[in-house]
Amino acid sequence: MKLLSARGVNVAYMPSRGQRIWAVRDVDLDLAEGEFVGLVGESGCGKSTLGRGVLGLLPTAAKTAGSVTFAGQELVGASIRELRRLRGPSLGLIFQEPMTRLNPLLRISEHFDETLRTHDRSLTKAQRRRRSLDALGSVGIPPTRFDNYPHEFSGGMRQRIMIALVLVLNPAMVVADEPTTALDVLVEAQILRILADIKSSYDTAILLITHNLGIVAEACDRVAVMYAGRIVEQGSAYDVTTKPSHPYSRELLNSTISLSTTKLHSIPGAPPNLVNPPAACRFHPRCPDAMKVCAELWPPTVVTGPARRSECWLHAKEDIPAGQAAPLERETLAAAEEA
Ligand SMILES: Nc1ncnc2c1ncn2[C@@H]1O[C@H](COP(=O)(O)OP(=O)(O)OP(=O)(O)O)[C@@H](O)[C@H]1O
Ligand code: SF4
Ligand SMILES: [Mg+2]
Repeated sequence: MKLLSARGVNVAYMPSRGQRIWAVRDVDLDLAEGEFVGLVGESGCGKSTLGRGVLGLLPTAAKTAGSVTFAGQELVGASIRELRRLRGPSLGLIFQEPMTRLNPLLRISEHFDETLRTHDRSLTKAQRRRRSLDALGSVGIPPTRFDNYPHEFSGGMRQRIMIALVLVLNPAMVVADEPTTALDVLVEAQILRILADIKSSYDTAILLITHNLGIVAEACDRVAVMYAGRIVEQGSAYDVTTKPSHPYSRELLNSTISLSTTKLHSIPGAPPNLVNPPAACRFHPRCPDAMKVCAELWPPTVVTGPARRSECWLHAKEDIPAGQAAPLERETLAAAEEA
């Protein structure tokens, strides 16, 4: 059943001085109960903004428009009180840097006690302790470590504690924003396994934000690829990571490092400045397949398979105006890159 539904979501940051940054533009995204969805893209493409936007957790300088419904309730425009009521018990956020979220002066047991007390005043101390130890157990932290301080744990263990601190409230959905970026590959694999277990044992929906398409291939059911504020491709994790339909997904996949990587590939250039992104297809200055139309007209979103969509002119060649399907000339590309 559908749990989260985002429709036509736009987020703009409006710094007090400076220009408006269009971090998310007209995005649709759904999450079903217990679904594990990966949100991938390079740095600055708007992944965290979208992930926090759907939780109603953006700073006040960010303005959100569109609709985000969670279990039938509209979150865009909801009061802080309504959002607080949902957040924690229903919606959780796991951050990249656990140490910045754990208070070094408090024992792990005190973190759990405070979290549970804030959200449910009816629980007794014994009940809070039981629930905390269960949550810690589900991420592989033994009860003997309950009274330790944050600095007594490794980075990977601290991340597991952060996950347990979110889980202890039994949320229906969790956004995990690059939870493994600061960790080595073995610990990263452990954390991904824990997230996959949580999904199956608690039926929690997870939105996993990452730069790495390789990670989503292993862990996720579905993937959304984000570029310059847009979701440019969505589909099953298997389809997108084995047969990407959008040139950006293909380039991102080619630049993923794996054990079998023999030659490093990186996408030339960088994602655009979102104050003034390229016209029409935002990827056209970097796209090896760019045609004239790509710099002139916004590409259509085309259904390219079961539960699969891609925003690219390559899938709508019959709709390209006469003469516009020719390759975009390199001078035009260079000029667009300079702009
Ligand atoms: N608090 C903020 N104020 C102003 N601009 C912001 C703020 N947070 C993000 N941005 C801008 O919004 C755009 C999207 O940023 P966001 O952090 O959502 O991207 P991201 O895909 O999560 O990147 P990364 O992979 O580096 O975390 C960027 O241009 C960024 O500079
Ligand atoms: S619309 Fe054109 S420029 Fe954009 S990704 Fe497709 S082919 Fe490349
Ligand atoms: Mg981010």
